[in-house]
This record gives sequence, C-alpha cells and structure tokens, in this order.
Amino acid sequence: MKRHFRVWRGDASGGDLRDFDVEVNEGEVVLDIIHRLQATETPDLACRWNCKAGKCGSCSMEINGKPRLGCMTRMSTFEENETITITPIRTFPVIRDLVTDVSFNYEKARETPAFAPPPGVAPGEYRMQQIDVERSQEFRKCIECFLCQNTCHVIRDHDENKPAFSGPRYFIRAAELDMHPLDDRSDRKEYAQASQGLGFCNITKCCTEVCPEHIKITDNAIIPMKERVVDRRYDPLVWLGRKILRRDQLGSDNMAPSTTPGVAGTSGGIPSSRARRPEGAPVGPDGHMDIAELVAPLQGGLSPFGEDMTFPLPPEEVTYHHPEKDR
Ligand code: SF4
Ligand code: SF4
Ligand code: FES
Repeated sequence: MKRHFRVWRGDASGGDLRDFDVEVNEGEVVLDIIHRLQATETPDLACRWNCKAGKCGSCSMEINGKPRLGCMTRMSTFEENETITITPIRTFPVIRDLVTDVSFNYEKARETPAFAPPPGVAPGEYRMQQIDVERSQEFRKCIECFLCQNTCHVIRDHDENKPAFSGPRYFIRAAELDMHPLDDRSDRKEYAQASQGLGFCNITKCCTEVCPEHIKITDNAIIPMKERVVDRRYDPLVWLGRKILRRDQLGSDNMAPSTTPGVAGTSGGIPSSRARRPEGAPVGPDGHMDIAELVAPLQGGLSPFGEDMTFPLPPEEVTYHHPEKDR
C-alpha cells in the first residue's frame, strides 16, 4: 500500500519538508522507505547508513519527532493512515538532507583521557576477573549512534554549552574506565565533573529512553558517578548522623560513618541491612527477559527502587541505627 511521508530536504542554508506517497511492503523498516525514495523519486536524497541491522549507529534520524535508528523502526509500528515525518537529528549541524555533521562527538572522544595501562605490565599481560569484565560490558555495547547526545537538552538547541559538556555517550566511557580494574587513573569521576560537564546533567533520563542498545546510561553510569563525587559533608544522611549519633560513634573526622563504597575517609560504619539490588532487566523463571522489556514504547531505565518496593520499608531494611540500642 502507499503511505504518506514527509521528509526534510535541504542543507546548511535552509530547507523544508517535502511530501511523498511511497509504497510500503510487509516487514519493512523506515530505512527501506528511504532507499525506495532514492531508487524512484529522489535519487539525490542524502542519508547515512551502513549495516541495516542496528549495529553501525549510522542511520540516526528523528521519526515523528523521536530520535531513532531508521533501520530499527518498523513500519508496522505506525497507524495505517499516519503521516510519517522524517527529519535529521537536531543537535548537530545539517550537511544535507538527513546527514548531519557529528564531529562534535569525535572531538569529545579525543578529549576523553584514554585507558591508562598499569606501569610494568606489558600489553598481552593484562589480566582481569570475569566479574570486572561483566560490570562494564553494558557500556561497551554502545554503537555510537549519538541518539543520546542528540536528545540531551543540555546541548540540544544550546550550542553554547557544547564546549563544556561531553554528553551521555562520554559519561558512560568515563564510568567504564572508572570500573576498569587495570586503569591507572583514579580520577575518572572527578575528571567527569570538572572537565566533561557532569554537573550540567540533571538526570532527566532522556538519553536512556532513546538508547537503541538499552544501556541504562543514567542509572548505571551517571548517577553512580554523581553520587561519588559529592563530598559527603553535603550528604544529608551523614549530616543527620552527625546530629543523632553519640560522639564515640563518629569517625575520627567527626563524621558519621558511611557505608557507601568509594567515599573517601569512610570507616566500617553501621552495617547496612539492605544491599543494593541488581538493576538489570528482570527475567522470568525460564531465564528469558520479559517480553514487555523488549516491546515497551519507551525503553526507560527501571526504577532504582525496583518494581516491588512499597513503603514503609520493613524494619529490617531500615538502615537507621538508634544510639539508645547500644546502651
Ligand atoms: S540524564 Fe543527563 S545526560 Fe541524559 S539526557 Fe538528561 S541531562 Fe542529558
Ligand atoms: S549510549 Fe546508546 S544512544 Fe548513546 S551513542 Fe551509545 S548506543 Fe547510541
Ligand atoms: S544502518 Fe547501521 S544502525 Fe542503522
């Protein structure tokens, strides 16, 4: 059947949406339609693509206003009489039609300090535990489609923020290197805060929602880094601890002990009765991911509290430790 499309055509000097009625067949994706347009009505329509399998990250575009991969957007997800509007990703300057200049991202990649191998260990002698490989595996799934960069409101329509902000794609790179047991730099989080503009991010999770690799950019990279760079003097729980704990329960720095890993100057602290829960997608008894996770229209991160959290918490999960109990 024929479906109605509006495709932006133009270059750096301007352009507009052009109307097309194009034949659509069963099983096709938006990129198929662009190829059909190139083969029929508009042979000079510019569009970047490569793999047509959601793996090269080239075919990023905005489809009905949502940043998506053209090759992973099925035509069957639209209503039969729906007009499909295709525009270039907005955060980067247009070169022509659907092709934008994404060199901003390569500049930020160049600015990000590379993996620093440990001194005295030659290439080929690097060894790490499987558990450490798995921790950062999620971030290495990135296909550099830059949909997260395009979506982030810090730089979308705000070119003036670009020099000071690397964007979510490079926050996950910093988090990946921060988790790397062999990386010799110990200041990845501080560098992200001071030089990559981590402080601009107000954890809206928009980047997570558009990531075609379902990387939980905000929950698993940005929030843990933000948590750790905040001086614990500003931590309200630590402040509360200073108010309610006896002096002999405070650390040598007169601070309430913290159980947060990675916070400088912590002692053993009050044992936490509630270990942090894993944040991966839930799987059923057969070990398969719930189908809802695969077909949800917005692939946002799970709530850090989990789906089954209800308040008030059961007493054994509350970490508050009343000083009277020790008397
Ligand atoms: S969570 Fe942060 S990095 Fe991601 S889109 Fe929002 S502001 Fe940008
Ligand atoms: S993190 Fe996700 S959205 Fe961002 S560039 Fe990588 S694959 Fe694309
Ligand atoms: S063509 Fe490679 S991700 Fe779409």
